[in-house]
Amino acid sequence: MEIIFLIDNRLYDKKLFSEHGLSILIKTDAGKTILCDTGLSGRFADNAEKLGEDLQKTDFAVISHGHNDHIGGLERFLQTNGTAPVYMSDKITGSLYYSSRGGKNHKISIDTSILESTFPERIVKVEKSRWLSEDTALVFNTCYKYPEPAGNKFLTAKSPKGTCEYPDDFLHEMSLVFRTPKGIIIISPCSHNGILNIAESCRKFAGTNDIFAFIGGFHLPDGGGEKEKDLAELSGMLEKLYPEMLLYTGHCTGETALSYLSESLHRGMMHEFYTGLKIFWQF
Ligand SMILES: [Fe+2]
Ligand SMILES: [Fe+2]
Repeated sequence: MEIIFLIDNRLYDKKLFSEHGLSILIKTDAGKTILCDTGLSGRFADNAEKLGEDLQKTDFAVISHGHNDHIGGLERFLQTNGTAPVYMSDKITGSLYYSSRGGKNHKISIDTSILESTFPERIVKVEKSRWLSEDTALVFNTCYKYPEPAGNKFLTAKSPKGTCEYPDDFLHEMSLVFRTPKGIIIISPCSHNGILNIAESCRKFAGTNDIFAFIGGFHLPDGGGEKEKDLAELSGMLEKLYPEMLLYTGHCTGETALSYLSESLHRGMMHEFYTGLKIFWQF
């Protein structure tokens, strides 16, 4: 299995673009190529070209949730690849999302209705968790017993027909899950429901206790509101519940959370991703 980070906030190769957004290309052992999220602007497609990846060979795409740093480049993908379906929560289409982080309330969603009318049949609305094949699933969050990220308090939504703005419930967020002989791999690009809740939802859906890797932003940005005791609690629970799990993070995991978790978790558990990183796993 190969995982390629087409775009992320962090950049180590000056030939590539970076932005506040995430897009990941996955090549499975079953021979499928899957795009998870499209970043903020469509520049993930320029990076793919520079990395020698042909997006026309993508079998399908998945949009993890409705924020524009994950769905902003969708039009570019639909233009680049003329056939691949795009799976996303049915809650995303038509909904509007806002962030008041930084003081001013601003829109962080795109008008999906334009894409739906321009590219009919390409967008597949997902209502509940489901297997797409024997080893690949889309999983919604079903667990709420662990804390959600404090930074969620800045995020609101308006339903397609509603006029009032309400705290975002993140029912539009889903993870991409792969079954491997060493346990499941969870790709959860923004993890607004909290990584412990998402991990439990995914392993329960897949019917396993074994998580090989959890990949994604943890929505713990600098200034997001987590105190040191919150990070200590998270770290302790990760060690207790999933001592064998590999963590790969970047995007909305800020420097404070990143260095705290890197120091507190046992050696070898925590890894950082960045634009252009390629991971190979042989199962
Ligand atoms: Fe994000
Ligand atoms: Fe997000």
